[in-house]
Amino acid sequence: MADKKETFYITTPIYYPSAKLHIGHTYCTVMADAMARFKRLSGYDVRFMTGTDEHGQKIKTIADEAGVSPKEYVDDVVSGIKKLWAKMEISYDDFIRTTEPRHYKRVQDIFKKMQETGDIYKGEYEGWYCTPCESYWTETQLEEGKCPDCGRPVKVMKEEAYFFKLSKYADRLLKLYDENPEFLKPDSRRKEMTSFIEQGLDDLCISRKGLEWGISIPGDEEHSIYVWLDALANYITALGYPSDNEEDEELYRKYWPADFHLVGKEIVRFHSIIWPAMLMSLDLPLPKHILGHGWLLIDGGKMSKSKGNVVDPEILIERYGIDALKYFLLREYTFGQDGIYTNEVMLKRINFDLANDLGNLLSRTVSMIEKYSGGLVPEAETSDKIDDDLINIAINASKKASIKMDSFEFNNALEAIWEVVRRANKYIDEKMPWTLAKEPARKKELDTVLRNLAETLRIVSILIIPYMHSTSDRMREQLGISDIPALWEDTFEFYKLKGVTVSKGDALFPRLDIEKELKELDEVKQDKMATKNKHK
Ligand code: ME8
Ligand code: MG
Repeated sequence: MADKKETFYITTPIYYPSAKLHIGHTYCTVMADAMARFKRLSGYDVRFMTGTDEHGQKIKTIADEAGVSPKEYVDDVVSGIKKLWAKMEISYDDFIRTTEPRHYKRVQDIFKKMQETGDIYKGEYEGWYCTPCESYWTETQLEEGKCPDCGRPVKVMKEEAYFFKLSKYADRLLKLYDENPEFLKPDSRRKEMTSFIEQGLDDLCISRKGLEWGISIPGDEEHSIYVWLDALANYITALGYPSDNEEDEELYRKYWPADFHLVGKEIVRFHSIIWPAMLMSLDLPLPKHILGHGWLLIDGGKMSKSKGNVVDPEILIERYGIDALKYFLLREYTFGQDGIYTNEVMLKRINFDLANDLGNLLSRTVSMIEKYSGGLVPEAETSDKIDDDLINIAINASKKASIKMDSFEFNNALEAIWEVVRRANKYIDEKMPWTLAKEPARKKELDTVLRNLAETLRIVSILIIPYMHSTSDRMREQLGISDIPALWEDTFEFYKLKGVTVSKGDALFPRLDIEKELKELDEVKQDKMATKNKHK
């Protein structure tokens, strides 16, 4: 038991390095990071993967426009992406780039294996292609002649091409959804995919002729492998599959099948149809869950790199810190649904939940322990109903948060934690330690209040680790417990602190002047647009 932890493999999409990432990508990566940290904290052996999807016509065109080679172009964007994740302390275990030899070679091997199964044949493609989505469409699938996914113009394509016998897997896919409704969530997406398949699944064109910026087809170098086949394979190539060498496949054997592929709703189709069919063709186990999350919308539309209507996470981090941004993204939106982004909702969340609720609770508690107990956390020798109520809520929060996390309800997990925070603030108002302090006969009651508040904050400092680990560290510093390991199981029990001395530090989250911030954020945005136009 002790030496063999249960494994947990979670992935984000590998993003296109066509431009700087925005807060939409940050949203997905922050969710995956919080889940990875939560699972590590609760005892799992976690593998958290992310990366970049670097081939394809779209990247080639953008690089051409920029007057650099595709490799130069992606190297530059990818280094910015890695810097962003480093700044945000995203705890990924590996970052795969599809241009890396380890991936390139394995995708070719995967292609060969699928050929050997008899699932790949050569023919002629005639139809429509959407370059921004790297998607093939039939005439009937188009909506008003445009891409049904993004609404942009499509191009006619007619070329000699390789096909994957996707149609062969239609029944098995329908059976998979039917027998295993947990495979694809939310349910609305599963219904959508079911009807998509029921309308008839065509074989999939999986090559592009003459596109040099791609992985070439072994033995037929004029053709390159369709970028989605290349990209989806990352989830196993990054674990070392396939290899002739047993040792190279160690990670694959340990972590595959993935527990969760976290993806935006617009790419659920690739992950719940093409990807499982590829795995069936390779005779490999299927991922346990595909989860489609909603979009962050701005000014009524999807925030997107190609539209340029984006919010830059770096500006928000510089002004408000990583933890404020992460908290906001996880607390504000409901998994699976779209959500509207505005600076105002974000600033309000920071002020109300972080500065007021959590920040004040810590600073009031530490100040009172310093004032009434010389900084030493006292013993609790009394108790009444109000004390019991606080204790109950505090020691049950980890269980509540766990249940919510297991269904990816980040907002409700945080809500369960904030229930404790708000209960503790109310506890102070009910107990009025400042009046207790005036009556020497009630010294023991005062001690209990101080102790209970310190213990509650100790528990909260552990509960928030998956979402805001630096804030947790800063809280533990002030609570005088930074030398003690923060263990999940220590949230189940209330009285744990012994002879601990608190020390007041800076406010966790300074209160923001919302009007002033809104104005300044608008100015930053205008400055940025002005600089951008200058470059053109
Ligand atoms: O699709 N709101 O890459 P991509 C929420 N390379 N999430 C958003 C978002 C928004 N407005 N915009 C982007 C690709 N995302 C492929 C993936 S995987 C084998 C290949 C997030 O750069 C969301 O998770 O277009 C979405 O699915 C992903 O970024 C798409 O990133
Ligand atoms: Mg996209």
